[in-house]
Amino acid sequence: MNPGIKVFAPASVANVACGFDILGFALERPGDEIIARFSDAPGLRITKITGASGKLPYDILKNTAGFAAYKLLEHLGETNRGIEFEIHKKMPFGSGLGSSAASAVAGVMAVNELLNRPLTKRELLPFAVLGEQIADGAYHADNVAPSLLGGMILIRNNNELDAHRLHVPKGLYATVIYPAVEVLTKDARDILSESVTLKQHIEQSGNLGGLIVGLFNGDLDLIGRSLKDSIIEPQRAKLIPHFYEVQEAALKEGALGCSISGAGPSIFALCANSLIAENAGREMKAIFDRAKIENQLFIGPINQEGAIKL
Ligand code: HSE
Repeated sequence: MNPGIKVFAPASVANVACGFDILGFALERPGDEIIARFSDAPGLRITKITGASGKLPYDILKNTAGFAAYKLLEHLGETNRGIEFEIHKKMPFGSGLGSSAASAVAGVMAVNELLNRPLTKRELLPFAVLGEQIADGAYHADNVAPSLLGGMILIRNNNELDAHRLHVPKGLYATVIYPAVEVLTKDARDILSESVTLKQHIEQSGNLGGLIVGLFNGDLDLIGRSLKDSIIEPQRAKLIPHFYEVQEAALKEGALGCSISGAGPSIFALCANSLIAENAGREMKAIFDRAKIENQLFIGPINQEGAIKL
């Protein structure tokens, strides 16, 4: 029996309040797993998908993991290599937690590990971004880069994939709540205004700069003052029931900041330590529980490793 290899790619929080499409961090969990093994039949095939309630395609050119892996195999001149994928979705999709990005990252990691690492992780980035692109049509790496590389990543320019890891102070914890309401990323992007005012631009760039300085200097107060979104959050908040209530509850418990995770509906809070993260999580969850909205809570440090072979 050919056991193959297994890889894990974590969920991620994109935007991080003031960095729309250019900032994201990785979570410890949840995430996706792919088992890859060589097979006698030539070409890449997906033989099994679990955890997706039949919603994901087996066609490798339509599946984010399959497409990303195929693009990598094409680059390596290995499209005839017989490879089978089992995809185990272990996170909700359409959640704002970078589910399609995690799949795409797991796809390229699986191929790279199976072939004995012909490329570095960083070199896998463009192929994973191409995989994610088939999910929402846009070319941005704010979920893919942290899921692959771990940590908090700033993408200076998405077309150039000019991605940089930011320092994260020790002890920083993330609380993320996923309320099971449907927010399609495409819709959440379509409602956004094409223009921003000069005032919004000044506020947002001040906060983004402040957040980066705060992270590098371990200045938690500055991080807290900077975790604000003057542009996207006010436009998307209406898509998420109880958003402002949840945000207020997290801040009341001492979270440094709280905003929409990616395109939503998940909501994240960054906290100075695990106790505050747990207290904030409990209160955030209570709001959705009271409203009888099914939800899942994830609490943990920033994942510094990103995708790994298990
Ligand atoms: N930055 C993206 C957005 C993340 O907020 O639309 C979701 O793909």
